Amino acid sequence: MNKTIIVSSPGKLIIGGEHAVVYGRRALVTSIGMRLYMQLIEEEQDKKLINVSFHDTNKTYSIDLLNLNELYPIEIQAIIFIYNYFKSNNQINLQIRSDIPIGAGLGSSAAFSVCLVGCFYILNLNAINQEDINELAYKVESLFHGTPSGIDNTISTYGQSLIYSRTLKTHINFHLSNLAIIDTGIPKSTKKMVDAVRLFVENNQIQAEQILNNIEICVDTMVKHPEQMNQLFQHNQQLLKDLGVSRIEIDNIIQKLAENNISAKITGAGGGGCLIALTSTFTKNQILDLLKDNHIKSIQFVECGVEGLREEQTF
Ligand code: PMV
Repeated sequence: MNKTIIVSSPGKLIIGGEHAVVYGRRALVTSIGMRLYMQLIEEEQDKKLINVSFHDTNKTYSIDLLNLNELYPIEIQAIIFIYNYFKSNNQINLQIRSDIPIGAGLGSSAAFSVCLVGCFYILNLNAINQEDINELAYKVESLFHGTPSGIDNTISTYGQSLIYSRTLKTHINFHLSNLAIIDTGIPKSTKKMVDAVRLFVENNQIQAEQILNNIEICVDTMVKHPEQMNQLFQHNQQLLKDLGVSRIEIDNIIQKLAENNISAKITGAGGGGCLIALTSTFTKNQILDLLKDNHIKSIQFVECGVEGLREEQTF
C-alpha cells in the first residue's frame, strides 16, 4: 500500500539579534502564522525515482536517482540528500505549497528543510522527534546557506518563541500585538550579508565586538522589559546599521515611520527583504499611505508564537 505523510511548519521573525547570533550571541525569535505544507507519498514499487511538484511556482521535477546527470536547483539537491540519507529505495512523490514568501527573511528555506526531514523521518520512524529532525534540518539548511546559526530551522521545528544562541534554546512566552511585516520588495541574499558582516568583523574587531555585545544586551532587555520594545527596536536597528546591513531605502522607510512614532527594524539578514514594525493603532491602509513613495511590496500583520512542525490530515 502507498504511504502518505503530510506535515507543515512555520516561518519566523527574528525580533532581535540577527547577525550577532552568528557570533554566538543570544537572539529573540518567534514563529509566525505563515506555514509551508509538504505531502510525501511513497509508492510501493521499487523504483529510485522522486517526483516533485512546487505548487506556488508550478515547477515540477522527475529525478531518476540511478541516472543523475543534471545540475539540479538547491531544493532538489536537498531532497536527493535526504532521500539518500534515509536509504530510500522506493518511488517518492512530493508536493509543496507555502504561505511564506521566498527570500524575504521569513524562514521559507528553513520551513522547507524541516518539513522535508519531517516527512522522511515520519515515513521511516513513525514519530516526530524534534531534536533529531532539527539536527538533520540544520544540515539541509547548511546546503542552502553555508554555516547558518541554526536559528531558522530551530524555530520552525519547535515553534513558539525562543531565546536562541548556538548553545542555548529557551522557550519564552512572548507576544507582541500590532506587529507588522513590511516587505521592502528589495531582493536580498543572506549569504552576501553574512559575508559582508564577517568582513566588517575581521577588519574592525574591537568596534565589531562592542556592536555584537550591545545587540545581545538589547535582546536581553527585550525579554526582560517588553514595555521598552519601541526604543529597543530603534536601538537594535541602529546597531544593525553600524554593522552595515541597512541601506538608504530601508533607512528612508524607517525614518518615515519614526516621524509617525512607529518603531521599525530589519528582521533577518537585511540589505533588503523585510522589516518589522510596532504599528500601535495604525491600520494597514494608513501605513501603506504613509509609505506610498517608498515602493514597498506589502504589509502584513501576523500572529506570533505558533506551533512548530506538525502532522496534517490534509494537504
Ligand atoms: O535568512 P534570514 O534573512 O532570515 O537571516 C538569517 C539571520 C542571520 O542572523 C543573518 C544569519 C543566521 O544564520 O543566523
